[in-house]
Parts: sequence; C-alpha cells; structure tokens
Amino acid sequence: MDSNRRRSRAAITVAAVGALVTGVVVSLAATANAATTLGASAAEKGRYFGTAVAAYKLSDSTYSTILNREFNMVTPENEMKWDATEPSQNSFSYGSADQIVARAQQQGMRVRGHALAWHSQQPGWVNNLSGTALRNAMLNHVTQVATYYKGKIYAWDVVNEAFADGSSGARRDSNLQRTGNDWIEAAFRAARAADPGAKLCYNDYNTDGQNAKSNAVYAMVQDFKSRGVPIDCVGFQSHFNPQSPVPSDYQANLQRFANLGVDVQITELDIEGSGTAQANNFRTVTQACLNVSRCTGITVWGIRDSDSWRASGTPLLFDGNGNKKAAYDAVLQALNGGNPTSPSPSNPSSPSPSNPSSPSPSNPNPGTGGCSATVSINQWQGGFVATIRVTAGSSATSSWSVRLTLPSGATITNAWNANRSASSGAVTLTNVSYNGTIAAGQYTEFGFQSTGTAGTLTPTCAAA
Ligand code: XIL
Repeated sequence: MDSNRRRSRAAITVAAVGALVTGVVVSLAATANAATTLGASAAEKGRYFGTAVAAYKLSDSTYSTILNREFNMVTPENEMKWDATEPSQNSFSYGSADQIVARAQQQGMRVRGHALAWHSQQPGWVNNLSGTALRNAMLNHVTQVATYYKGKIYAWDVVNEAFADGSSGARRDSNLQRTGNDWIEAAFRAARAADPGAKLCYNDYNTDGQNAKSNAVYAMVQDFKSRGVPIDCVGFQSHFNPQSPVPSDYQANLQRFANLGVDVQITELDIEGSGTAQANNFRTVTQACLNVSRCTGITVWGIRDSDSWRASGTPLLFDGNGNKKAAYDAVLQALNGGNPTSPSPSNPSSPSPSNPSSPSPSNPNPGTGGCSATVSINQWQGGFVATIRVTAGSSATSSWSVRLTLPSGATITNAWNANRSASSGAVTLTNVSYNGTIAAGQYTEFGFQSTGTAGTLTPTCAAA
C-alpha cells in the first residue's frame, strides 16, 4: 500500500467534527419495521450501500455472511486494477475479478468497477512505455476491460487520483499525465464507447471538502460537461483519520458537484477511530449523502476492521470478529431516518423528546402557510426512484398531502415515509404518523419506487 501518499495528504482545516451540523430539520423517528440491513435501508432511500471486496476472502464464511446480508453493491478492492487485469501487454486476466462479479450477480448486488486508468498499481511493462505508445496502451486497456465487463458494471472509476495534493490545483505528475493533458477525457470517451450503459466516474481523495484540489476537479467536470465529454459521476474516496477528518463542508461539497449535473458517490469510506466519536463521524457522512439527492450510494472500503488496508486504525463498521460496531448502528439509524442527535439508539421507535429541530407541537397557528413540493428522480432502464421534498411555508404544518400524476406504464411498487391513495395515474401521497408536522420553512422527504419512466413529475402540495 502507498503509505507515503497517506502521510503526504494535505491537512484540511476544519471545524471540530463534533460541531458538524447536518441538514436534517425534521425528526423522522425510525419505525418499528425499519430495514435491518445497510443495503435494504439504503435501497429504501433510493441508494445503494456497498463494500470493497477481496476475491480471496469470499471463501471466509464470516466475511461472506456479512457481505451477503448487508451490502447491495461491491467494488473489487484490487482485482480490476491495471496490474491485475493486464499483467503483460495485451494479455488479460480476469479470474479474480470474475469471482467477485459472479458472486455479486448471484446475490443480486451491483458492481462498481475500479479502476481503469490510474498512476498506481500499474503492471511493470507500463514503465517501459511513454508518449503515444503509453497513451495507446492505456486506451487499449480501457477499451478491452470495459468491453469485457460490458453490461455488468453499474459505474466505472474511469480515472482515479489524477490531481495533485496541496494548493497548486494542478494535475498530478505521472506517466499518464505526461502523455498529454487530454488523457483523462480520452479515457472517458474510450470507456463510453466500450460500455455505453455504465456510469463513468472520476474518483479521488482529499477532494471531500472544498479546497484547491477539489476546486480543480470541479473545474474539470464543469469543462467536461460544457464540451460533452462523457462523465456521469464523481467519487469521493472519503478516507478519514484525525489528520484528515470529515470536512465541515462535506455535504456542501457533494452538493456543488451534484449541481454540475453529475451523480456523486462516496466510494471508499473508512474513518479511523472507535466508539461514539467514530460512530458520529460515520453518521455525519451517511446523513450528508442522504441530504444530497444525487448522492446515489455509499461504499465502505472493506467489511471488518481486519479487512481494512488501514487495519490498525479500526476504520470500518464491523470488528475483527464480524460484530457490528457503534459505527454500524449509527449508519443504519441514519439510513432509517433516525434523528442524528437522538440519545436513545437502543429504542429506535421512540422519537427524541429533546430534538432541537423538532417542530413545536403547540404551534398556535398551524397550516396557514401552505407547503411546496419538489421532486428529484433517479431513473434507470425500466424503473425509477422519486424523492419528494415537502417544505413548509411560513407556518408549521400538522399534516400534508402531495398530488402527482404518474405517466402511463408507471406503477409504484413501494413508498416510504408516506401513504399513497393509488399506485398509478393520479396519486395522492399523505404524511405518515411521524412526519406530518414540519416547522415553518423546514422540510421532510419521502419517496417511492416505480416501474416505467418518470418523465416530468409535477407534484403539488397542500397542508393543514
Ligand atoms: C488500496 C487497497 O485497499 C489495498 O489492498 C492495496 O494494497 C492498495 O490500494 N485509493 C484507491 C484504492 O483508489 O484503490 C486503494 O486501495 C486505496 C486508496
């Protein structure tokens, strides 16, 4: 592992992690029938929950049991890297990666491909190449691997870690960079041509908050979008420790990228630490993703602490014996809509009485300020998830209802945090017991999954 690189990471100045504030303004207490696994709970929020997987551990029964139970996305930890898939030039080797893909397919999980072009973990033969020969070898690699896995990959990290740390905002010097500044867009175009169905991501670390490096990536994505270079998503590795803590503007940074018209994903999450402090950090990250409608999923970089590339920092959700840690409970609770400041995780069905953002139950003038509803859609071939945000007007709501009309061919298969009057055509969605009350100017979110194509949904909101 590249330990030098970790040491050289720029320290990011942030407010104390304990002071981080999430954007949730309404307490949605977890219900008694809340999902009990990370994957199921994330799916209810229209997202995935994934983990890095090592092929050689698939025969470990503790490992596999947790993998199959908890996760619905996997990223091969090393098996799809250049050194693994093309150990000698034009001779491809997919055995270990195929084991992971086969397991994923068997379990109904999706796969994030990682990574097609990267300065690290290159096979030795690449060192002998430069200029056009290296550029062509890289493009051939992208084309061959993306073609081999065509149709099996949800998203590819097409290019990994191409920007320099520190304040320069420059590209990282590497053999690939020395083939010309356009190597990144060339890689993305080759990947799109090879597998048009895969989402194509740029992935990096130390880009988790706003800083010179993330600004440079932002400018690149903006440029790609304006010139039609195919890019669909940006991955934020999110390897955190006391020297590189969760930035206070983590959510804002995800949101500004999402506003460029790309999905954002948390791709390699691990947070060194233990106990409540670690749990709170995991909760903050999870909540940030939930608060950004284009944050489509979270992947942790390994299952048990002992599986981690940074095992001594115990940065994951399960201990070395496969037991759930406090961090696990915090993530699941956040995914289930629990209040991040709830003091009683042992009793998830009781709302927090001391939640500072809870709306006042004794509001003397409820319902005169109306409400508004906005929708965001995550569409795929044959189905979509709609996330609807209900925002109270100038006074609190005590109940609300949202009306929308689904296009023909669209049928709701499940909904969360709302009751529905019908599953197709004109549908009215009303609050459930715990989210009717919204304080003035604040919001709650509900969602549903549907078959078909969303098109333009125009929700209208009424409040009492
Ligand atoms: C790490 C793996 O976890 C280790 O097993 C391997 O020795 C080195 O690479 N950024 C990335 C990942 O994009 O591919 C790295 O994974 C961690 C940092």
